[in-house]
Amino acid sequence: MTEQAPTHHCQCQCQCHNKHHGEAANKLLPTAYDILAIEKHTELEWTFRVAKDFDVHYGQFVEISLPLAGEAPISVSDYGDDYIDLLIRKVGQVTDKLFALRPGDKVWMRGVHGNGYPMAEYEQKQLIVIAGGTGVAPVKGLLSHFCRHPESVKQLDMILGFKNREAVLFQPDLTLWRQRQNLIVTLDEGEPDEQFCVGRVTDYIDQLDFSAPEAIQAIVVGPPIMIKFVVLGLLERGLSKEQIWVDYERRMACAVGKCGHCRIGDKYVCLDGPVFRFDQAQYMID
Ligand SMILES: Cc1cc2nc3c(=O)[nH]c(=O)nc-3n(C[C@H](O)[C@H](O)[C@H](O)COP(=O)(O)OP(=O)(O)OC[C@H]3O[C@@H](n4cnc5c(N)ncnc54)[C@H](O)[C@@H]3O)c2cc1C
Ligand code: FES
Repeated sequence: MTEQAPTHHCQCQCQCHNKHHGEAANKLLPTAYDILAIEKHTELEWTFRVAKDFDVHYGQFVEISLPLAGEAPISVSDYGDDYIDLLIRKVGQVTDKLFALRPGDKVWMRGVHGNGYPMAEYEQKQLIVIAGGTGVAPVKGLLSHFCRHPESVKQLDMILGFKNREAVLFQPDLTLWRQRQNLIVTLDEGEPDEQFCVGRVTDYIDQLDFSAPEAIQAIVVGPPIMIKFVVLGLLERGLSKEQIWVDYERRMACAVGKCGHCRIGDKYVCLDGPVFRFDQAQYMID
């Protein structure tokens, strides 16, 4: 179900708009934007389409906030010229308040932050994307892009895992992606049919083509335990650590490299990530 905003579009409501969005923009100052539409995937996971007036890349994130509630980092799951989509799971203080909003209401955002996916690395390669649960959100736009432009990659293999049928995200997109590329959707629990397999994402890695491992790039997104075992499975099948990219969502505060909340060793996840090549991030994964 999608709710649309009645009429108006994005408009920053601050009085110093140019300062925020020019070269000297203060990345700690949030700006108000309109919620344009809300799509409900499950009870607890909704996509908020929010107006934007800044550039963005797949894999980057914004800090979304509401006055008196606080702020939360949320990945950009997809975007168009004048909007971004944010798949948000309702888990606490900020996200609870977001779920009380409707199209036409405003949210505050600062960013975008982070590095995003190095799209040029994937051009004309066999791209394997393995993601679980809300981990599908940061790669949703990238997957849609390569399904819209299948000529950009040699092949796209996706293994997406969800807890059960009720937890499946992006249903209409899955149908489209299945028509264009190789898609396996797994459920932890339930009965298998032509759309869904049952088991863990790692159980289906062997169904992928590893005949030319040197031409593969892989992206892994999900909970740390899933990342650990998927990466192990890919390494066992001949990929090197340099061919694997992980998305590491660590607790953050400032998101601009100042507070140190997200620092692991010499890396600031908010600046150097959240996307890391595995050889540079292996010590971050428990
Ligand atoms: C780079 C990045 C991208 C993210 N992208 C998304 C996204 O696309 N969609 C989405 O729904 N969530 C995403 N998250 C997680 C999201 O930021 C947290 O769920 C959010 O901050 C919770 O805020 P809250 O005030 O509603 O919950 P709180 O009241 O702060 O916490 C509620 C519960 O969530 C836990 N929690 C809070 N923050 C995190 C965190 N960063 N990681 C793990 N657990 C946490 C708390 O321990 C607590 O159990 C992302 C996090 C990061 C760092
Ligand atoms: S969140 Fe403050 S340094 Fe990264």
